[in-house]
Amino acid sequence: MSSFARRLGIEHPLIQAPMAGSTSAALVAAVSAAGGLGSLGAGYLEPQAILDQATQIRAGTSRPFAINLFVLPDDLEPDMAAVARARERLDALMEREGLDVRTTMPARWAPRFSDQFAALCEARPAVASFAFDLISPTQVHELKQRGIVVVGNATSVAEARAWAELGADAVCVQGAEAGGHRGSFLHAPEESMIGLFALLPLVARAVEIPVIAAGGIMDGRGMLAAEVLGASASQLGTAFLACPESTAAAAWKRDLPNVEEHRVVTIRSFSGRAARGLRNHYVAMMEPGVDALPLYPVLNALTAPLRRAAAQAGRGDLLSEWCGQAAAMARNLPAGELVALLMDEYDSAARALG
Ligand SMILES: Cc1cc2nc3c(=O)[nH]c(=O)nc-3n(C[C@H](O)[C@H](O)[C@H](O)COP(=O)(O)O)c2cc1C
Repeated sequence: MSSFARRLGIEHPLIQAPMAGSTSAALVAAVSAAGGLGSLGAGYLEPQAILDQATQIRAGTSRPFAINLFVLPDDLEPDMAAVARARERLDALMEREGLDVRTTMPARWAPRFSDQFAALCEARPAVASFAFDLISPTQVHELKQRGIVVVGNATSVAEARAWAELGADAVCVQGAEAGGHRGSFLHAPEESMIGLFALLPLVARAVEIPVIAAGGIMDGRGMLAAEVLGASASQLGTAFLACPESTAAAAWKRDLPNVEEHRVVTIRSFSGRAARGLRNHYVAMMEPGVDALPLYPVLNALTAPLRRAAAQAGRGDLLSEWCGQAAAMARNLPAGELVALLMDEYDSAARALG
């Protein structure tokens, strides 16, 4: 067992990535119970829901788990002209596609980060991880006082250094292959498209804290390769999306094994921030002219009714089908079995290399 895994209190150097909207308490608990680190993607959850989910995870396992948040300003002032343009385009699209819903003005564009942070502290997971920005030194102190391990997401050496200097316990390096939203904060996500095989050794030599590898890792061989390049653990997202415990929409799970890698692109038109997923009908319709639409999290809130309706109607072609570049390798196995299989593959790959 690596010293990093020991520090986290886990058996395997394997982290199930936080995936806001797709990581149920059952998924997190199953991964942790199997000896990995399950992570709750809590970015879209209100404070009470974070506490409730943590209680449910603890009902499923006594092992360590992580909670992840998106670091956003508490108060947002969107460009209302861009909001109006987005509503018009989205409503027209839903009408054309026969979806019986329209956009609404949400009471809030996203949960308030400071309230979510307070709930995370109260929930007291073993690990807290953060995307989209640094947290404050006071917040780092608050987490450490509670014995919570702090992990920051980085997509460049400069971002990894910033987390290390802030006092993070580990940094998760997200290569350009990674599915969904990455944590870029010093650069636009589109401007830090560095592949994991290039970024990982660069970060490993630049910082002294443990490095976690993320992006395109789908099996135990990939985990071993990441370790050879300097990672203390691997974080897999898309690999866990196909598990029955993930709450990804059925149409999306069905599409995963057939994803052609050349169609996995970065998309801004669902959320207002570049995220990796499948180029489908929605993307073809909405990505042209995306510069005139609002930024994250405003566009994300505006597209929520459409995404919900598309999921209910089984319309994968209108859903945000987030996934990493190697999505076709996803396996539809219960999460605990997937953890065991990944570790078997990891051990056989290590033996094969002698
Ligand atoms: C559906 C989906 C949702 C994601 N949501 C989050 C999130 O809430 N917070 C976060 O830090 N990363 C999120 N990510 C990125 C993962 O942390 C991780 O970097 C990525 O899944 C690794 O690439 P892979 O999907 O190829 O394994 C998400 C990824 C996916 C696929």
